[in-house]
Amino acid sequence: MTAPALRARKVDGTTEQPIVALTAYTMRMAQLLDEQCDLLLVGDSLGQVIYGLPSTIPVTLDMMIAHGAAVVRGSWHALVAVDMPFGSYEGSPEEAFANCSRVMKETGCAAIKLEGGDAMAPTVRFLSERGIPVIGHVGLTPQAVNSLGGYGARGRGDAEAKKILSDARAIADAGSFAIVVEGVMEELATRIAREIPVPIIGIGASADCDGQILVTDDMLGLFERTPRFVKRYDNLAEQIGKAAETYASEVRSRTFPSANQTYRPKGS
Ligand code: KIV
Ligand code: NA
Repeated sequence: MTAPALRARKVDGTTEQPIVALTAYTMRMAQLLDEQCDLLLVGDSLGQVIYGLPSTIPVTLDMMIAHGAAVVRGSWHALVAVDMPFGSYEGSPEEAFANCSRVMKETGCAAIKLEGGDAMAPTVRFLSERGIPVIGHVGLTPQAVNSLGGYGARGRGDAEAKKILSDARAIADAGSFAIVVEGVMEELATRIAREIPVPIIGIGASADCDGQILVTDDMLGLFERTPRFVKRYDNLAEQIGKAAETYASEVRSRTFPSANQTYRPKGS
């Protein structure tokens, strides 16, 4: 999958084949998800999910590069995009280019994602025109949690809805090949998907989008924080807990390891 191929999924405002996207942070998870996904995002949500940080704000470029490289190693089919962390792209288009090119060189990823609307449009244009495929991200933008005041759904009022639509338009006009729209009211998501020509990948943004993305750990029931928009497709936390319980009891009762897991001379 390439950025132009993903962009081409949306023709004349509609997408016949919805885009399937999930997050991945590790090589093994990438391998397991790759075949089913069009897009694997190395999200800066790894701050909370992998590192136990309180938000995505403290996530560093080095963290994104380490995980981005691991995911690229585990993927052969899906497009791998890496999130640019807070502070690595907002200062100027030139600084953004320096950091994005580092991410691309050191991970082998095929695209980057950055948050923001109108204000980021010149940067999106600068990057897109210099060989860096950009995915935008508007609506609820977690890196702006301190400005937004929380993680609540966006676009409730008329003014806010208009602003988010114009953000999406600015980013699309600037050359992004897809846009993640997160945590917005259904009516606004529908409008964005209809009016913006590039694929709109929703998370908490209704079924009207051109594709969907979820945080894999949420979807698998591995992470306890679950917003309304998450559907749990499994409960791996419970399964892992049970496996650990069985292991612990077998170690304590000395039933593990048994003969099967023990090295002995041949024929004994
Ligand atoms: O960081 C992330 O996982 C994301 C997706 C939820 C879109 O940005
Ligand atoms: Na993110």
